[in-house]
Amino acid sequence: MTASHFALLVDANVDVQYRCPVYKRFTAAGAPSSLERMAELYGMDSLHVVVNGARYDLEGVDSRTTLLDLIRERLHLTGSKKGCDHGQCGACTVLVNGRRINACLSLALTHDGDAITTIEGLAGGDTLHPVEAAFLEHDGFQCGYCTPGQICSAAGMLDEARQGQPSYVTDDADHVELTDAEIRERMSGNLCRCGAYVNIVAAIRDAARPAHGS
Ligand code: FES
Ligand code: FES
Repeated sequence: MTASHFALLVDANVDVQYRCPVYKRFTAAGAPSSLERMAELYGMDSLHVVVNGARYDLEGVDSRTTLLDLIRERLHLTGSKKGCDHGQCGACTVLVNGRRINACLSLALTHDGDAITTIEGLAGGDTLHPVEAAFLEHDGFQCGYCTPGQICSAAGMLDEARQGQPSYVTDDADHVELTDAEIRERMSGNLCRCGAYVNIVAAIRDAARPAHGS
């Protein structure tokens, strides 16, 4: 497909999308639509990212490469796990500019200029991140396959709660309290096949205590 064919395809689809209320809301807010972003990315194959504080200038990145595959296969940071590769299990969770995402659902080239934190970069040197320390203390894992995603997700989730972002089970949106029900709801995108949930919740509850300041 040539660039001009792609532009025609985008034009045709944009006409359809203009009738979509969600598309209208996004464009009204000034955010580019996914199709506009795709058009921008067409022909692009390089990006720079900062991963765990180190800058990478990468060339020859296939436009179909997910962020998870880039991190694991190109940067050889294999802490982030591939469980389902379909956004269902949370094993691939990383922080992008401080916000948790499923890296298997995100194309690498859309992260040009982003700061990414994986499980390898969460600790401060030899000092464990409070969530990591709490997982150790509470035995928040068994086989450990889901653990990097659980810990990155919990770190992101604690920040969301601290910023006062409510969840589906929040009773009082003006006062977010991290009850066990809140923790379970907010971590519901991270599955554990070993069923270590009781200890995972205990670890996150502990890490959320002000003294830990995660
Ligand atoms: S591997 Fe990404 S959500 Fe399962
Ligand atoms: S500890 Fe084994 S999948 Fe969670």
